[in-house]
Amino acid sequence: MNLARKTMNAPALAAVYEHAWRPTLFYLASGRTTGDDRRDAVDTLRLDGEQKVLDLACGPGNFTRHLSDHLTGDGYVTGLDYSEPMLAKAAADNSGPRVGYVRGDARTLPFADGTFDAVCCFGALYLIPDPITATREMIRVLAPGGRIAITTSYRDDNLFGRATTLAASISGLRLFDRDTFPRLFAESGLTEIHQRVHRFMQYVDATKA
Ligand SMILES: C[S@@+](CC[C@H](N)C(=O)[O-])C[C@H]1O[C@@H](n2cnc3c(N)ncnc32)[C@H](O)[C@@H]1O
Repeated sequence: MNLARKTMNAPALAAVYEHAWRPTLFYLASGRTTGDDRRDAVDTLRLDGEQKVLDLACGPGNFTRHLSDHLTGDGYVTGLDYSEPMLAKAAADNSGPRVGYVRGDARTLPFADGTFDAVCCFGALYLIPDPITATREMIRVLAPGGRIAITTSYRDDNLFGRATTLAASISGLRLFDRDTFPRLFAESGLTEIHQRVHRFMQYVDATKA
């Protein structure tokens, strides 16, 4: 297990992740606040009703419950994560009437094809050992017409980008170029593909045809 993965499984990180770790590191990496990211998530996933939503690698549920606040009736958000301490924190701090948490591996999702109306994965694909398999799994469990949104790392295609990629890989983090996710989405038949880059982070969303 690499350093990044060990860190994500540490109870101490789960304790400080939502209110200290994430707001600080994501602001430095992207210039955006958690509030900005939450508002964008609701908008890009087009949440406003009884959708079934998957929040992949949900951590302590810091987006999961917020997303569920924008649903009505039978709408429901499932948060999936690998880390037991993160899931314990999610159950303690971010439960709600339209939220549930599942332990699982992003690379082999325990859901049938087309289960969800919206699927997201924020701040995690750079930690997952096989991020392309995990992304294909997200697309598999997304229903036709459903929305997908990811937030992950970004590197420029220049010497600085290559140097930071090497430095990050030592701790187990992966930095992605501009093309990887839009291309994968297009090859998978997704439409309405949009990408935004903020400093070292990229935000990509699309619709399953
Ligand atoms: C940085 S947190 C992201 C939490 C939240 N989505 C956010 O944006 O703040 C990354 C999460 O990815 C989870 N994770 C890493 N590899 C995973 C895998 N293979 N399957 C499921 N979860 C994984 C970690 O346990 C951790 O909780």
